[in-house]
Amino acid sequence: MKVGQVRLRRFANTVANGYFCSVIKFNNSPIMRKKIVAGNWKMNTTVPEGKELAEAIVAKLSTVPSDVQLIIAPPFTHLCCAGKAIKGTSIALSAQNCADQPKGAFTGEVSAAMLKSIDCTYVILGHSERRQYYGETSATLVAKIGLALENGLKPIYCIGEKLEEREAGHHFDVVKAQIEEVLYTLTPEQMSQIVVAYEPVWAIGTGKTATSEQAQEIHAFVRKTIAAKFGQQIADDCSILYGGSCKPSNAKELFAQKDIDGGLIGGASLKADDFVAIAQSY
Ligand code: 13P
Repeated sequence: MKVGQVRLRRFANTVANGYFCSVIKFNNSPIMRKKIVAGNWKMNTTVPEGKELAEAIVAKLSTVPSDVQLIIAPPFTHLCCAGKAIKGTSIALSAQNCADQPKGAFTGEVSAAMLKSIDCTYVILGHSERRQYYGETSATLVAKIGLALENGLKPIYCIGEKLEEREAGHHFDVVKAQIEEVLYTLTPEQMSQIVVAYEPVWAIGTGKTATSEQAQEIHAFVRKTIAAKFGQQIADDCSILYGGSCKPSNAKELFAQKDIDGGLIGGASLKADDFVAIAQSY
């Protein structure tokens, strides 16, 4: 912290809009950013299994600190059913993707408007698996984020480098490009609706987690890159989540880092006990 900066952190159970925020004072201007633990179920569970999982998370919700926003992102087929299971609780619903077109003859696609109509609050966009297996480019993601925002969804925009990019020392350049090519097209108002998830591709589903120092270093860089375009306040208000083999045993150390505002959890979000234990790490 720089001299002269007054920084008071307190956690307010701000229930406005059903969200929970950290309230931080920085240069006397209040900063609101949410602590978030989001479960990306990917293509796992049948609908009955998903319903059971959502209900099990709801049953344990009272053990989660009240300033942590839980989000579940089940497959499309589960959204209505899982949405019913979490209705009336503070858990928010997210989709894992949306179409890059508003509507029409796009067989197999699901639009942002459809997701909004079933009470989704968030949508995960730009996950490395979408970029890698489905050829999603920055141009696709600009379109998807635009449609998500137009329809009142909050994008969880995923970024992160591949193993060879980290080994070559290019990880900062890779995430900078992923931010500049997509997020820099937004207005400040739009940017204030974005959650960023840093997920190093080499850590996803591999059991290899970034060390807390590696994660903090890049999270701070992400925040600085956002600040360079949108200003410090918007950057400070942006929740930046870590994803990649996050589990109960490593969440505490990761979440203790100054610029890590929670996690985007894959495998460990499929067990209610583990998912909740991660959220309890705060
Ligand atoms: P794992 O937690 O299974 O490594 O997956 C992380 C992820 O990709 C979340 O989006």
